[in-house]
Amino acid sequence: MKIYTKHELNSYSLSLTYDDISLIPTQVSRVKTRSEVNIKSKFLGKELAVPVISSPMDTVTGIAMAKELTNSGCIGIVNRFDSSLTELFSNGNVIEGIQAVSVSLTAEDELLEKIAANNLIVCIDTANANNAHVLQKCEEIKKKYKVKVIVGNIAHGGTLRQLVDAGADAVRIGIGGGSVCTTSVQTGIGIGQVASVIDTYFVREEEKLKIELIADGGIKSAGDVAKALAAGADAVMLGRMLAGTKETPGEVIKYNDQLFKKYRGSASFGVKMKGEFIEGEETMVPYKGTVRSVVNAISDGLKSSMSYLNCESLDELKKINTFAVLSTSSYLERLPRK
Ligand code: IMP
Repeated sequence: MKIYTKHELNSYSLSLTYDDISLIPTQVSRVKTRSEVNIKSKFLGKELAVPVISSPMDTVTGIAMAKELTNSGCIGIVNRFDSSLTELFSNGNVIEGIQAVSVSLTAEDELLEKIAANNLIVCIDTANANNAHVLQKCEEIKKKYKVKVIVGNIAHGGTLRQLVDAGADAVRIGIGGGSVCTTSVQTGIGIGQVASVIDTYFVREEEKLKIELIADGGIKSAGDVAKALAAGADAVMLGRMLAGTKETPGEVIKYNDQLFKKYRGSASFGVKMKGEFIEGEETMVPYKGTVRSVVNAISDGLKSSMSYLNCESLDELKKINTFAVLSTSSYLERLPRK
C-alpha cells in the first residue's frame, strides 16, 4: 500500500473527502495518555481549548449556543437569520461571552459599528467568497473598522491571494460538502472536502499568505475533525455535529417516543420562504443533550487520534505526512457492525 504525503494527496487524481482517507501511525508514540496531548490553539487571536467553530445557521447558533461554546473554549458564530443579532445588542452593550457574529452582504454601518465597538469577529456569511461584491464588502469593513473578518466559502485555493488582499483574516473552505447542502446537486459546483482543504493549505504555505483556514461542512465525527486538521485546517466548522443539542435555537420535538430537534440549511425553504432559489435541506436530528458533552467527545477523539500519531500538539498534527487512500471495502471495514 502506498503511504501518501500531504503533497501527494494534493496531486491525487481524484478529489478526496474524509471517508476516502485515513491517518496512518508510522512511529512509536511517545504519548503516554490522552491527557498529555495539547489541543489548544490560537484562532484570530482568541485562545481555543478545542479548535471548533459552530456554523452560523438558525438551527445551530443562537446566543445560548455561542455563550456555551465560549465557556467550552470554542467559538460560536451567531446566525443572522433569527432575532439573535437584535437581542445581542438590545441593552446597548453586547451580551457577555459572545465572540462572533455573522452578517449578510448588505450589513449596514449601524450593525457593523456595534460589532466593532464590542471587538467581535465578523463573518460575512455568503455561499461564495469568490465574488467581487463579497471582496468589496470585506475591504470596506476592514478599512472602516478594527475587526477580524471571516469570509466564505471557497472550494480550492485559486483565489486565496485575492481574499487576503481584500483583508480577509480567515476563510471557510467547503462548497457542496455540508450535510444539508444541495449546492452540488443544483449547480454541479464543489469538490471533496479533503481536496479543498489541502489545496487551500498549500496555496497559503507556498505563497506565504496570512489567513486562517476553516474546514467547513461534511464533518461527521471526531475522526473527521482529526483528518481536517491533519489536512491543514486551523479549525473546523460544525453544523450537524452540534445540531440537536440543548443550546441550539428551537424546540425539542417528541416523535415515536424519541426526541429530535430541527436542523436546516441556511438556503433551505424554511429560512428563505420567499420562493427564492433553494440550496439546502431541512431535517430532524436526534436530541443530543448538552453541547459541552459533544465538544468533550470531539476533544477526546482528537486527543486519542494524536496519541496514535505521536503528536503532542496541533502543530505536530498539521505536519503529519502519512495518509492512506481507502478502497470502498476498507472504508466499510472501518465501520462497526451490529
Ligand atoms: P455540516 O456540518 O456538514 O452540517 O455543514 C455545515 C455547513 O454547511 C455550514 O457551515 C455551511 O457552510 C453549509 N451550509 C449551511 N446551510 C447551507 C445551505 O442551505 N446550502 C448549502 N450549504 C449550507
